[in-house]
Amino acid sequence: MGQTVVFANQKGGVGKTTSTVNIGAFIAAAGRRVLLVDFDPQGNLSSSVGIRKSKVGVYDVLIGQASPADAIVKTPQENMELLPSDLRLSGATVELVGAEGREQYLKKALSSIRDQYDYILIDCPPSLGVLTINGFVAAQSVIVPLQCEFFALEGFLNMLFQTIKRIQKSLNTRLTVGGIMFTMYDSRTRLSQEVIQQVKGAFKAHPELLFKTVIPRNIRLSEAPSHGLPINLYDPNCVGARSYAALADEVMKRV
Ligand SMILES: Nc1ncnc2c1ncn2[C@@H]1O[C@H](COP(=O)(O)OP(=O)(O)O)[C@@H](O)[C@H]1O
Ligand SMILES: [Mg+2]
Repeated sequence: MGQTVVFANQKGGVGKTTSTVNIGAFIAAAGRRVLLVDFDPQGNLSSSVGIRKSKVGVYDVLIGQASPADAIVKTPQENMELLPSDLRLSGATVELVGAEGREQYLKKALSSIRDQYDYILIDCPPSLGVLTINGFVAAQSVIVPLQCEFFALEGFLNMLFQTIKRIQKSLNTRLTVGGIMFTMYDSRTRLSQEVIQQVKGAFKAHPELLFKTVIPRNIRLSEAPSHGLPINLYDPNCVGARSYAALADEVMKRV
């Protein structure tokens, strides 16, 4: 059975989507079967592999109106498929709040296709709301992307890890922390180094939770989505591509 990994962080713009698509692409390029799940109503993951309008999306699968096979599409990367998002997913936030078993919808939606993939990677919206909770329940591990340009990390990380602990106690006892990864690192700023030092300090009892590969700030990574391509297909030799290749190797070893 495949590994399901959720990329989560309640802040927007920290690199969740960029990490999901590029780690997925390098895992797929290594010959594993990958499914990307766009679980953000914004649909950035879908558009970053060139899927802008999809008739059937993850919302239809969630509410049982479509089978995963009806919704899943190919991406430009061989071995990598996508379950696209659509704006109706934002309605699900409201609809699910009152529904019984509201945290289990995504897990159920993916259950019939789990063994068709080696890795299922779920990209979450920037909140700890019902969609992200569904991601935590559907997954075996969570990867937390952290932007190296952000202060006051501690309260913010506490909140995230308290939520993960709550899920581990009740809704998904198998959930593990795959790791924390640093992105948008800028060697010219002291802030980047301070953020890494601060997180290392906060996790000194669990240094194994931090991925070794740090993703630098790299303009090519921000250009690739508008071409609908993961970085390995857009510019395989840029520093962003080489970094995500190394990070994808780490992910495959760990989860
Ligand atoms: N390492 C990076 N270097 C430069 N730009 C990046 C990098 N990672 C992400 N970006 C850009 O930063 C913005 C936010 O990243 P994104 O992955 O969409 O964050 P999130 O999904 O957490 O909201 C996007 O425009 C993306 O292209
Ligand atoms: Mg995103």
